[in-house]
Amino acid sequence: MRSKKIGIMTTGGDCSGLNTVIQRVVDGCVQRKWNVIGIKDGTDGLYQNPPITVDLSHETFQFASSHLAGSILSNGNAGNTNFESSARAGKLGTFNKRLQKSIRELELDAMVLIGGNGSLSLAHLYPEIYSGLSLVCIPKTIDMDVPNTERTIGFDTAVQQLTEYCDQLLLTARSHHRWFVVQTMGRECGQLALHAGVAIAADAILIPEIKFDVDNLVKHIKQSKRDYGIIMVSEGISIRGHSGKPADMVSRKLTAAGIANRTAFPEHIQRAGDTLASDRILAAGFADCALHAIENNETYVMTTFENDDFKTISLDDFFHSGKPEKDPKILGAITSNAYVEPDNPLLRIATDMGIYIGEKKK
Ligand code: F6P
Repeated sequence: MRSKKIGIMTTGGDCSGLNTVIQRVVDGCVQRKWNVIGIKDGTDGLYQNPPITVDLSHETFQFASSHLAGSILSNGNAGNTNFESSARAGKLGTFNKRLQKSIRELELDAMVLIGGNGSLSLAHLYPEIYSGLSLVCIPKTIDMDVPNTERTIGFDTAVQQLTEYCDQLLLTARSHHRWFVVQTMGRECGQLALHAGVAIAADAILIPEIKFDVDNLVKHIKQSKRDYGIIMVSEGISIRGHSGKPADMVSRKLTAAGIANRTAFPEHIQRAGDTLASDRILAAGFADCALHAIENNETYVMTTFENDDFKTISLDDFFHSGKPEKDPKILGAITSNAYVEPDNPLLRIATDMGIYIGEKKK
């Protein structure tokens, strides 16, 4: 009997921890005497004719550096034909057919897709692409906006990156008696800002899920015992009647109220950083779970982490348990999203710490 052939790919935005997942999956495949290939550039590479692949069965990569951020398989190239450009050109059907053809040509028994809620939603919406093989998805994203899992690969390291960044900012803030408005990533989900804000005991944390009042924010800062500190602002917030970057909007309001401040944008540094132990353990757990799922011939499943354990759930459950939103980049596609829920204990803890988190749950 021919041994199994497994494909691995990383799709969507990169984050720290991807290489650890790849390493653990490859190790598990080699132990089981399965062949394993990596697809370069995610679905962009799969679309190419022939698809761009690398053989991972024989230590092709230097796994000693698997704790480094980014993906040795790369995540996609904006210049290539992809879901976004095909949808814009009205050629999504042709794009999907090409992916399907590539999978058949590669003769894969299983695909491990390491992706965020966008990639997982697309896999659910267009099941014809991966039909005939075992599709196992591993959730990764610094946004932590994937429903049904308590952690996603890369989140903890991103929180650490932000924490260290703010620790440094606070030193210069103190020297100049000024406040920093730090804009975090996270899209429409406030998890990253909330976690990092609690970690550094920010003076305020503004997230898309909670309405805030600028006057109360100003009052809160003026009542502070210090004349410096950090206001953590998630990139998804808005102020009615204002446009531009959220941190700039908040900064202008503070300046108008006589509060000396600067803005800071950690940007893609949040997706970098050596992978923390907790993300490596998560990677090991997800990879182990994915390998067992392949052995059990499961398909259209996602690995999840809940109550300190790892299991798989169906992509259907993932999709229907989140809040559906129109995909901003892919016409006609819907993504399934998770947000900071009103009963998130960190909201209560932040309030108890004296952090201003806004007024009213949306
Ligand atoms: O989804 C991950 C993420 O880093 C978001 O937090 C952020 O809004 C976005 O990707 C940035 O994407 P890009 O690298 O394409 O600018």
